[in-house]
Amino acid sequence: MKVNKNLVLIGMMGSGKSTIGYLLAKKLDYIFIDIDRNIEKKEKNTILNIFKKKGEKYFRNIEEKITMDVLNKNTNCIISLGGGAFINKNIQELVLKKNISFWLKWKNSTIINRLKNVNKRPLLKKMNQKQILKLNIERSKLYSKANYILECDNLNKNEIVEKIIKKL
Ligand code: S3P
Repeated sequence: MKVNKNLVLIGMMGSGKSTIGYLLAKKLDYIFIDIDRNIEKKEKNTILNIFKKKGEKYFRNIEEKITMDVLNKNTNCIISLGGGAFINKNIQELVLKKNISFWLKWKNSTIINRLKNVNKRPLLKKMNQKQILKLNIERSKLYSKANYILECDNLNKNEIVEKIIKKL
């Protein structure tokens, strides 16, 4: 089944965009593009080191460039965005204009739990749980603009994938 659009997964860090994107792509026989991995390949460095050495502003600039480029050049791909990408107005507009978007939504408490003991995410290094909660609440207002909001609590990975496929 081809819908002639990209399927774009958005949501907070720890919401499973990469894992679900990979499984969904396998199931639908689509190409899977993980924007963070593309950034790491292009920069020949990890996200953590890019933040450390060049700072968040630099990261956000290449994130915008690479994300817009990938969205413009592809169709019938599964694309997982970084958790902060959809906050960028240009990315947000492009995603909403010509793709099918899905927000992998979890309860606040689940997100906090899933991000415990995670140390490869630069933003989390300087945040306590209260700040992560605040960020998730703020971002959720934007994530809710996605075409489909998928309540993921109580579902396993395959059930989330099936739920997405049913929407197509
Ligand atoms: C970020 C999320 C990360 C990565 C970077 C910034 C964010 O991606 O792009 O660390 O601002 O939420 P994941 O959502 O895949 O962890």
